[in-house]
Amino acid sequence: MTDQTHLEVAERWNQNADQWTADVRNGYDVYRDLFTFPAFLEFLPDITGLDVIDFGCGEGTNTRYFAKMGAHITGIDISADMIAHAQRAEISGPIGVTYQLASYSSETGLPAGSFDAVISTMALMDGPDFQGAMHEAYRLLRPGGFIAFSVLHPCFITPGLHWQKDENGKTTGLCVARYFDRSTFTESWKFGNRPADESVVPFAVPRFPRTISDYINAIASAGFRVARIEEPQPTEDACNEVPRFRRWRDLGAFLLLVMAERP
Ligand SMILES: C[S@@+](CC[C@H](N)C(=O)[O-])C[C@H]1O[C@@H](n2cnc3c(N)ncnc32)[C@H](O)[C@@H]1O
Repeated sequence: MTDQTHLEVAERWNQNADQWTADVRNGYDVYRDLFTFPAFLEFLPDITGLDVIDFGCGEGTNTRYFAKMGAHITGIDISADMIAHAQRAEISGPIGVTYQLASYSSETGLPAGSFDAVISTMALMDGPDFQGAMHEAYRLLRPGGFIAFSVLHPCFITPGLHWQKDENGKTTGLCVARYFDRSTFTESWKFGNRPADESVVPFAVPRFPRTISDYINAIASAGFRVARIEEPQPTEDACNEVPRFRRWRDLGAFLLLVMAERP
């Protein structure tokens, strides 16, 4: 993968960083708050006292949560502006998180075998070189360590997806399309929950579609043993609070969680 692609990803996320940070910290990312992060925490083994690295830590809200769970944590991200936001939170409320500007898919410069766990939440589908990320994760882990990550489910969140509706406009299905189309594209969106504000520019998020076999084969060929996969649904309570979640409870999987061990 070219350095140019990584530079473009970094630049996009630098442009997203201020609005993203404000929106996340204002509670507008309801998918994270009510669905993806609680599901990930349920999936994650105990990390108390472990040396952990967070791949694609962004502005650090989740990273700080892992630190509060008792992990000794380092967050890395390719976006200097995201890292700056994360560092400012650490300075104003120190909890011992270390941040570093680095790509998760090339040599981070951190010593081999210096972590017990690699964690990543909703970030590995946003970088071009998943295979590179698995190699770096393997290099950084001690024998017996693990990687646990969440991504958009590659079989359902495909480039051409659309919702099927009945004659009354009720959503009755999810139509997957262009599953094998691995072309990069940039997705433009705002958090659905934020109040309408014309001055807010939508995020521009570079996406790198891949298939389920791309994911699993990259994990295995880096040397990991896949231990567990889950496709959690939003809870009934979350669906009652945010009715549009129900599509992801009844019709298709939004989230893929993977846990793999380093022998
Ligand atoms: C959707 S955000 C998620 C951030 C954070 N994990 C969270 O859950 O809030 C994706 C993050 O991945 C980062 N990213 C994309 N490609 C990366 C790479 N190659 N190395 C490190 N970070 C990367 C982006 O800069 C961005 O901060």
